[in-house]
Amino acid sequence: MNCAIRAVFKTGVAMGMQVMGIYHGYKGLIEGRVDYLHHEDVENKMHKGGTVLRTARSSRFMTEEGIDTAISVLRAYGIEGLVVIGGDGSFRGCMALHEHGIPVIGIPGTIDNDMGYTDFTIGFDTAVNNVTNEIYKIRDTMRAHDRVGVIEVMGRNCGDIALWAGIGGAADLILVPEVPVSWEDAATRLAQNKLRGKLTSIVMIAEGAGKAEEFAEYVRQHTDVEIKATVLGYIQRGGNPSAFDRVLAARMGQRAVELLAEGKGGRAVGIRRNSIYDVALADAIATKDVFDEKLYELNELMAKF
Ligand code: F6P
Repeated sequence: MNCAIRAVFKTGVAMGMQVMGIYHGYKGLIEGRVDYLHHEDVENKMHKGGTVLRTARSSRFMTEEGIDTAISVLRAYGIEGLVVIGGDGSFRGCMALHEHGIPVIGIPGTIDNDMGYTDFTIGFDTAVNNVTNEIYKIRDTMRAHDRVGVIEVMGRNCGDIALWAGIGGAADLILVPEVPVSWEDAATRLAQNKLRGKLTSIVMIAEGAGKAEEFAEYVRQHTDVEIKATVLGYIQRGGNPSAFDRVLAARMGQRAVELLAEGKGGRAVGIRRNSIYDVALADAIATKDVFDEKLYELNELMAKF
C-alpha cells in the first residue's frame, strides 16, 4: 500500500498536481480527515507494511447519507480526482462515487487475490512469501516429531494464498473452497501417507475451506495420525513487502494518476500477462475470479510421490 501511495504522490507531483491523502479510508473521508501529502510522508516507507494513510471499515459509507457527506468533503477540499486502493468493498465504494460524478480510479490492494479482472492484487505476493517462510519453520518441528502439520491461512473465500504458498512450501495437501475435498478423503490420504512411510505431511487449509483445529480434531478421531494445527493469522499480512509487490504497486499507482490526468474516471487498474491495463470499474467488479485448476493439479502431482 505504501509503495502505491508513494507512486501516486510522485506521479501526481511530477505532473504538477497537488496530492492530498485521505486518512482512514472512506470513514476518514466522511469525517474530513484529509491533508496535503509531502515528500516526508512517503519517504523511507516502501519497506513498511500497513499503510501510512491508515485504514478503516465504514458502514456509514454504505448509506446514501454517507456517500453524500463524502462527496461534500471532496468538493470542499477541491479534490478533482480520487485514487482508491483496496479490495471488493473499496471498489464498490469507488463505483458509488463514480455514479455521483466523482472521477475515481481503483487500484487492487488485498492479500486475498480474489479480484478476477487482475492476475495479481497488491499484497498477495508478500502474503504468499510470508506464509511460505512460516511453512518451513513449522515443517522443522513436524519432521523432528514425525507429525502432520495443518496450517490455516487467510483469503476469505479465495484459496489463492493456500495454493501458492502450498506449492512454494511443498504442501502434501491443499484444502481450498474452490475444490471441495471431504475431510474423510483428506484424513484417509494422510493415513495412507503414513502407511507408505511418509511420516510428515504439511496440509494447507484456506480459511474459506474450514478451520485448521477442527480438521485436526477430525483427523485425530478417525486415524492414528498425529497432527498439530497452526493458524497463521496476521503474521501473513504484515511486514516487509516483496519486491514483486513493490514494483506492481509502483506501476499501478503511476497508471492510476495518468488515467486521471487523461480525464478518465470510473476505471480500475489491473495487470494481465505482466502488462498494466485499465478496465471500467463496473466490469472489474463483475469479473468473476477464476481459480487456477492447473496449479492445483500441479501440487497434486508433486504430492503424489
Ligand atoms: O481481506 C483481507 C483479509 O486479510 C482476509 O484474508 C481476512 O479474512 C480478513 O481480511 C481479516 O479481516 P479483519 O482484520 O478485519 O478481521
